[in-house]
Amino acid sequence: MKRWGLKNSETEKSIISPDGQIKFELDIKNHQIFYHIFKKDQEIVKNSKLDLDIADYKKTNLKLISFRSFRHDETVEMLWGEDQFIDNTYVEGEFVFEKFTIRVRAFNDAVAFKYELTGDENVTIKNELTEFNVDLDSTCWQIPAYRPDRYEYNYEAAKVYDLKESVHTPLTIRIPSGIYLSVHEAALYDYGSTTIKLDENNILSTDVTPLSDGAKAYVTLPWNTPWRLIMIADSAIDLTKNRVMYVLNEPPKEDFSWVKTLKFIGIWWAMYVGEWTWAPGERHGATTAHAKEYINAAVELGIKGVLIEGWNDGWEGNWLENGVNNKFTTSTPDFNLEEVASYAKAKNIELVGHHETVGFVDNYENQIEDAYNYYAANGVHYIKTGYAGSMITINGKKEYHHSQAGVNHYQKTVELAAKKQIMLDIHEPIKGTGIERTWPNLLTREGARGQEYEGGALRPSHPCYLPYTRLLAGGMDYTNGIFDIENSVKRISTTLARQVAYFVTIYSGMTMAADRPFIYKEKFPELFEFVKVVPTNFEKTVPICGEVGDFYVVARKDRDSKDWYLGGVTDQDGRSVKVKLDFLDAGMYRAYMYIDGKDAHFRDNPYSIEISKKRVKKSDILDIYMAPGGGFAIRLEKI
Ligand code: NOJ
Ligand code: CA
Repeated sequence: MKRWGLKNSETEKSIISPDGQIKFELDIKNHQIFYHIFKKDQEIVKNSKLDLDIADYKKTNLKLISFRSFRHDETVEMLWGEDQFIDNTYVEGEFVFEKFTIRVRAFNDAVAFKYELTGDENVTIKNELTEFNVDLDSTCWQIPAYRPDRYEYNYEAAKVYDLKESVHTPLTIRIPSGIYLSVHEAALYDYGSTTIKLDENNILSTDVTPLSDGAKAYVTLPWNTPWRLIMIADSAIDLTKNRVMYVLNEPPKEDFSWVKTLKFIGIWWAMYVGEWTWAPGERHGATTAHAKEYINAAVELGIKGVLIEGWNDGWEGNWLENGVNNKFTTSTPDFNLEEVASYAKAKNIELVGHHETVGFVDNYENQIEDAYNYYAANGVHYIKTGYAGSMITINGKKEYHHSQAGVNHYQKTVELAAKKQIMLDIHEPIKGTGIERTWPNLLTREGARGQEYEGGALRPSHPCYLPYTRLLAGGMDYTNGIFDIENSVKRISTTLARQVAYFVTIYSGMTMAADRPFIYKEKFPELFEFVKVVPTNFEKTVPICGEVGDFYVVARKDRDSKDWYLGGVTDQDGRSVKVKLDFLDAGMYRAYMYIDGKDAHFRDNPYSIEISKKRVKKSDILDIYMAPGGGFAIRLEKI
């Protein structure tokens, strides 16, 4: 509902959130625009510049031509996700200047703003100078930008004054007063994605990922930047409730009712533990015979999908270097897509196809239309894509994945997939900025260090950072559920119970149960029961407790039943948590509990687990132990 013309009680240049707690103030001094953000009476973002440096774009004198504000009240319904309904209530301010508008929205838990450029010419964005002037003594949790492994790093705590090098968003910050902020962006299209660092004046500032020639973007007007988004909360756990990123994106323009979330197993971890290979040969994983075995296993395990990696021509030799020759419509002699696809169809199993581009985007774009048609013709409705490699090659040039060229390529894949009714799981992606509200066929991404790094490069604390950082940007394919903890090639750094906890603590519209099926069927059938029933689409998410990098406990209600699911993870320190079940409805529930044994430890006793059942109700409080590197999962079935 739009109600134009509402005036704020304060000056015309500020807007105040619907609950009156958050204020955005715009200031023009010495031909420069600045903003400030206040929470109650505290200035949480101080005098910060708003500016774009545009080549050949004459800046007129900076006079505010008009300002108006209005309140918008709406509840947005999502097709799938962590929450079916998202509150989209805000006060919007529109600051109109001669050649551009600054549009601002003040929510109860965030502020967002963007630059909208008018005109019809082609311009070069040389730089964006938006600042986020927070106290330098604030603590933040960050991963570095512009590194070869893209977003796949361990999170580290730092002080804001340490951010001399660019870091990725969402950048979560605790300012000295204890308020939590997360600086991110929403609706990223046709522009480089933002990284953040201190500028020459020691102010936290945007560093938009450049193209190979140094420009930030070449655009045709009218054009706008993504929303610059600052999420605001009183505690770390409250920050994880923030869904403003999604509602800053447009509703879908087409019918996406064909989109369905999916749980899948796959010809995958067997390659990581050295049993099979991607490349053809004696131990080739993606053979017709193995694919049929996995399809049969999925039926037995009650899982709907099967991923097949390494089916296509191009994996021979050093696949990271040779990937420039990958073919996406021809398979190795021992794999027959038509045969596998009709076998899967007869068993009612969805195949998850695979396109590893190795970052050779030109090679992929040359084949993409045919490649999607090939899958579509064989009834393959899901594709996992990958962009391994430190840079991508577009128009013969090496570009950053998260440059404007990269952003536009990934967008092309999402839109083409939508046309063919194909759903995507993108690895080495562009970070999430909520575009899955508009393009719900983009079911998930990787975009952080996942379990492929197990075997030495994953810390037990890593998944305790994700909910407060990376997962604020949307779901993640973490490749959960590796039960073969003591594998000699890839030793896992968690307890067994933690591996089921991930199905609740790490949301993903496409969720992989990543271990080999014989591990599930022969070794841990009872534990796999949880994996089988845990939903991939929730009606409601209720974060319970946690601290960044230490622990996280969350409850989620299934969208298709009255059941709830609880999950928790802890770092290298064991701890007990008390969980009030007050989120439940009235009546009795049967709790199926998968909890670390009292003597469990990720290092020397990872398999110790207590599996039990009991009846619980709303007024109960559960006292749950999580071992070092551990976690828990509980299904609460309504009786
Ligand atoms: C990196 C992806 O994250 C991983 O899941 C995949 O198996 C490899 N690339 C090979 O495509
Ligand atoms: Ca990866």
